[in-house]
Amino acid sequence: MMTTLCLREITPANFDAAIGLRVRPDQEHLVAPVVKSLAEAYVYPGTAWPRLILDCDRPVGFLMAFFDIDWKGVGTGTDIRSGLWRLNIADGEQGRGYGRFAVESVAAEIRHRGGTRLTTTWHPGTGGPEGFHLGLGFRLTGETSGGQAVGELDLRWALWIECEISQPGLRVKLRFSSPEGA
Ligand SMILES: CC(C)(COP(=O)(O)OP(=O)(O)OC[C@H]1O[C@@H](n2cnc3c(N)ncnc32)[C@H](O)[C@@H]1OP(=O)(O)O)[C@@H](O)C(=O)NCCC(=O)NCCS
Repeated sequence: MMTTLCLREITPANFDAAIGLRVRPDQEHLVAPVVKSLAEAYVYPGTAWPRLILDCDRPVGFLMAFFDIDWKGVGTGTDIRSGLWRLNIADGEQGRGYGRFAVESVAAEIRHRGGTRLTTTWHPGTGGPEGFHLGLGFRLTGETSGGQAVGELDLRWALWIECEISQPGLRVKLRFSSPEGA
């Protein structure tokens, strides 16, 4: 399935499709609407990396990454981070691997830019995306940001291998991750 997935820059041609993406109504408190993210991308053009997620030509989600921000905002330049700012998989499109694809795509872009970790934040609590992030290998850093939990994926070692076996629906997943403290 992954070969059908791609990211696209937001353009006049796909702007309406992007802002029309909606998460489930019960998830609206978990993530800002796409239109707000695009307004932020306009204000922070050097930092924000907004992309439409397409399955073939069908818009299924939106992500916005951030690159090289001074995390604590104190101007010392000692804690520069990159990561995933927003992730909205559309109502009716969840549970099909699009969220995983989004995280892997941002990880690849950070690696390409020479980074070794992917930071993100999420709304803690029931019904939120914590299980999604922890399942992908994120570790809680113990920090909070704007009331959200902060998680980090170590890109030096994180690697997923998935293969389809001839048995329909059977999937084998091997995960290699760094030892504690590596
Ligand atoms: C959280 C979200 C991004 C997940 O996207 P998705 O496309 O449904 O996730 P995937 O299909 O790629 O799932 C990948 C894995 O995570 C698991 N998973 C997905 N959502 C989960 C959740 N809420 N809790 C626990 N596990 C979850 C899947 O079962 C799958 O596991 P598997 O590989 O072992 O089968 C999506 O539900 C969403 O947009 N939620 C609303 C907004 C939000 O919370 N955004 C994230 C923070 S800004």
